Amino acid sequence: DWKMDSFVENSIKAIREKIGAGKVLCALSGGVDSSVAAVILSKAIGKQLTCVFLDHGLLRKDEGDDVESVFGPSGHYDLNFIRVNCQQRFYDKLAGVSDPETKRKIIGEEFIRVFEEEAKKIGTVDFLVQGTIYPDVIESGLGKSAVIKSHHNVGGLPDYVDFKEIVEPLRDLFKDEVRKAGLELGIPEKLVFRQPFPGPGLAIRIIGEVTEAKVKIVQEADFIYREEIAAAGVDKDLGQYFAALTNMRSVGVMGDERTYDYAIALRAVTTTDFMTGEAAHIPWEVLSKVTNRIVNEVPHINRVLYDCTGKPPATIEFE
Ligand code: XMP
Repeated sequence: DWKMDSFVENSIKAIREKIGAGKVLCALSGGVDSSVAAVILSKAIGKQLTCVFLDHGLLRKDEGDDVESVFGPSGHYDLNFIRVNCQQRFYDKLAGVSDPETKRKIIGEEFIRVFEEEAKKIGTVDFLVQGTIYPDVIESGLGKSAVIKSHHNVGGLPDYVDFKEIVEPLRDLFKDEVRKAGLELGIPEKLVFRQPFPGPGLAIRIIGEVTEAKVKIVQEADFIYREEIAAAGVDKDLGQYFAALTNMRSVGVMGDERTYDYAIALRAVTTTDFMTGEAAHIPWEVLSKVTNRIVNEVPHINRVLYDCTGKPPATIEFE
């Protein structure tokens, strides 16, 4: 793609001029925008870039390792990569909390706190990377100031990190162009075509209180669901799909034993803008296979439900 080719080339040149010998900090989430932004920066200025990736224990199964394998020392790119394992901190903060907005707030604040601590260790930073894309810019009112996408819908521009300027390499791109640039830059397809994943992560896919044990359950169920959806080849048609853990327990039977365990809800929506959506028509054989695997492979699940609700009136996420 010659157009993307020259976009990548030109932005690398422009970034080199802008940054000079400066130090750059990037909060890497593993999502497509922050990943593409980080790789462009890395191609332009190499080790002047430090990427901080927080594994807050609310990511999907193996996601922390997947991100590390791409961006870490054994990965493909020239940059400083810091993975912060702060799982327990987040579990501790979330203990006993069941209100959805309170959970979001706690996660957002703790994220900032951890990121701030890491930034302090790095010392003076000249530039902060933002994965702002064109639709974010329009949303903020054409031509006015850039909207600064906060990582978790809280706070806005991080004022807790000392830096001189923002660098936004994706400001002129639409989502599909960001993906093209990502492919051009050799970022693995798995990452480039990753479905959207909310900042608060699995915390809003566990209804009610979040515990480490519940995170494990929803991770395993979600992994099976994604694996079977991909195997059936229906993933390309879906806007977003995932498993969520309800806080409903119900009676079941296993061998001669009565069980009293949780229900997993499967969600899949078709949508173009994520503002509205329809429940996807997943083939019954696929749902049935996923159900069998989940009840057989995931402890403490004895029931699997499919969410048939569109948005509105439901939301895509459960909280
Ligand atoms: P809902 O559930 O509101 O989701 O229909 C619409 C889209 O937004 C994502 N979403 C979030 N993303 N922080 C995020 O970064 C959040 O708190 C959040 N809540 C929802 C959701 O995954 C879907 O793509």
